[in-house]
Amino acid sequence: MTNDSQPRTQWLGRWGFVLAATGSAVGLGNVWKFPYMTGEYGGGAFVLVYLACILAIGVPVMMTEIALGRRGRGSPIDAIRRVSAESKGASAWSLLGWMAMLCGFMILCFYVVVAGWSFSYLWKMLTGGLAGSSVDDMAAIFGANNANPLNLGFWSTLVTLATMVIVGKGVQAGIEKSVGWMMPGMVVMLVIMIVYGAFSGGFGEAVHFLFAFNAGSLSSEGMLAAMGHAFFTLSLASGAILTYGSYLPRNASIGRTTLSVAAADTLVALMAGLAIFPVIFANGMEPGSGPGLIFMSLPLAFQAMPLGTLFGALFFVMLSMAALTSSISMVEATVSWLTDNKGISRRTAAWGVGIVLWIISTLAMLSFNVGAEWTLGGKNFFGWLDYLTSRWMMPLGGLGVALLAGFVLNGEAMREELGLPPAVHALWLFMVRYVSPLGIVVVFLDALGIATLEFGVQWPWLLLALAVITLIGEFASPRLKQTLSA
Ligand code: PFF
Repeated sequence: MTNDSQPRTQWLGRWGFVLAATGSAVGLGNVWKFPYMTGEYGGGAFVLVYLACILAIGVPVMMTEIALGRRGRGSPIDAIRRVSAESKGASAWSLLGWMAMLCGFMILCFYVVVAGWSFSYLWKMLTGGLAGSSVDDMAAIFGANNANPLNLGFWSTLVTLATMVIVGKGVQAGIEKSVGWMMPGMVVMLVIMIVYGAFSGGFGEAVHFLFAFNAGSLSSEGMLAAMGHAFFTLSLASGAILTYGSYLPRNASIGRTTLSVAAADTLVALMAGLAIFPVIFANGMEPGSGPGLIFMSLPLAFQAMPLGTLFGALFFVMLSMAALTSSISMVEATVSWLTDNKGISRRTAAWGVGIVLWIISTLAMLSFNVGAEWTLGGKNFFGWLDYLTSRWMMPLGGLGVALLAGFVLNGEAMREELGLPPAVHALWLFMVRYVSPLGIVVVFLDALGIATLEFGVQWPWLLLALAVITLIGEFASPRLKQTLSA
């Protein structure tokens, strides 16, 4: 039984879902967050763990979320409740939907602030506000931009308004169109910057920093950060992908779609790293400079390169667009839940959410000026929103989704929904049952200081644990065997 009886909007074109999901995945996470986290956590080892998490956790969980959305045809809460009920699972699984919806909203509350930085840098680029010749000059410009709450608030308010206008207009009209030209544009801009970087003197060091694996350089904190970032960058466990999946037509292939979204997302992140780190090393800047990293380094490159103002402006246009196609996906879950359950129009829902968003994001914005001292446990409000969502809510949500699909849902339903060849389906099932949950739990235990994970030493033990857990799981339930013999 599927829920196709209920009419639900679907994507317009054949590429509608891929475009929208890519638009959601590719955003500030790739260009702003990935480089600064890589810098903060020491380079290659962080990148390696991040890539491993994308493959072992991100891809299977994304497939599952799309399948849950399409089968349940609703917001995360409704879709998960329906799909779980279909398999006689507990209705409490819909709590995963509530957490995802909350998580998407909490991310948006700080995301609009960073998107505001991008918009304000576009403005500065066009009006000559980024003149300066050293890293210190750029740090001063970044600091001054943050110091004035009215200025910063203006930009984050603008982003909030733009997001709500697009969301209010609806799925097809608003979302699909912009991504088709924005994504290729972003890639072209990154290529230009990588080519520039290749001649700037810092390229070799950048490649080494990003891709040389130094086992000793990654802390437990860094592992958790890398795993959380894999969720963040793929827009998982925050309602976005699941809700977009609910608009996906029956005949679309979930496996292929997921792979193309994940590949595009990873490509943009690595390209962003290759574009940014040469500038950082060529100018003697500290890779661990934190969230301001790209805003303090890239303007230096734009000033030095031919046609720099043009390229710089184009870059910030692309970054702002990429941020918007992500931010609209974060409210989609809430808006679709409100319209489905509360009988209000999409536009009213969007503006209602927008007002709450504006209030909370203003508090997050104040973390950079008047509220910088309002801290708890060393983190300000902005820091807490980021920390709670990326480090805890998303991995926990992903764990829940994997366990739900792996052990609770009816195997036939998932097979029908995913439509994978038998061997690939078996691989998916193995991943959501064992590899992804074990990966998430191990990183959590490590971060909590309950177990220590060291490169090299403990991998054989981990593999052994995986084998033992798999055996126990398979004795407890014969589903994987059925899958293999299907
Ligand atoms: N994936 C987006 C990025 O990398 O910028 C961020 C994001 C979008 C997170 C949507 C969560 C979400 F639901």
